[in-house]
Amino acid sequence: ALPRVYVTRQIPPRGLQVLRESGQVQFELWDSDDPIPRQELLKKVKGCDGLLCVLTEKIDAEVLNAAGPNLKVLSTMSVGFDHLSLGELKKRGIRVGYTPEVLTDAVAELTIALLLATSRRLIEATHEAKTGGWGTWRTLWLCGYELADSTVGIFGLGRIGVAIAERLKPFKVKKFIYTDVAPRPELAAAIQAEYVSMDELARQSDFLAVCCALTPETQGICNKNLFSKMKNTSIFINTSRGGVVNQEDLYEALSTGQIAGAGLDVTVPEPLPTNHPLFTLKNCVILPHIASASYTTRNAMSALAANNLLAGLRGEPMPKELQL
Ligand code: GLV
Ligand code: GLV
Repeated sequence: ALPRVYVTRQIPPRGLQVLRESGQVQFELWDSDDPIPRQELLKKVKGCDGLLCVLTEKIDAEVLNAAGPNLKVLSTMSVGFDHLSLGELKKRGIRVGYTPEVLTDAVAELTIALLLATSRRLIEATHEAKTGGWGTWRTLWLCGYELADSTVGIFGLGRIGVAIAERLKPFKVKKFIYTDVAPRPELAAAIQAEYVSMDELARQSDFLAVCCALTPETQGICNKNLFSKMKNTSIFINTSRGGVVNQEDLYEALSTGQIAGAGLDVTVPEPLPTNHPLFTLKNCVILPHIASASYTTRNAMSALAANNLLAGLRGEPMPKELQL
């Protein structure tokens, strides 16, 4: 019989097409645009050989136990993998696929959009224009901060950080700096970025973009200590994972003017409750985790996730496999 695969969400059509046309698997789908309820997931995974999930599903010991010993391959339609218990997967010899690279352009574009929306106060400005705040032209009204002649700091220099810097260069940024667990000379060379300590990154950056993975080491690392070293004219941008930021400390930094503004595509939790204090701040732009949300990219992620799954089930190297 063909390997059995469970897909935890309606994924974009290209991935479904890859699975269907392969003729290699029989797959069942949670045929909804909403997340599968946990109890349903625990039932549905029972006995499957492969699992294709999205980032709203926490794949931990409970799910893996519910799936049972047939499960050999997990494929997530995401570049992030903080929703996966990697230790539990490794222990069981389950191979893991993910979707780096195909989303780099989309995430970099959105990061630029969010950065400019935050630094030039676009959301506040459209709100003023349509709700009667536009009394007349005023000399310092809705003034923000420009990229020309600025220093841009990147926290976690990977492909996405490089892609952001490449796009910012034509805005006449003066200098790129970055920090990471270790220098990344090959990546840094492409954008002539200088490696600095976390403290220097905070002190020098006019724009600080977080592009790291969420790991035990980066959990909550953007906290009071970091914000207190930033300039009060600086903009903080996060398109990685909400867990990297201590949101109480960020609220404090924004509401007291310790930093000038923040643009967040990711929060804890998601969705962020509409009564969350961060939503009361004019200098905080919050997006609902849409950095990779272009039709092209979501379809490419879907197809890559499907191809990872199929390769894994054939016992071949996956196009993009996470080394556990
Ligand atoms: C999106 O956040 C992803 O991890 O792909
Ligand atoms: C991951 O960091 C990527 O750029 O694909």
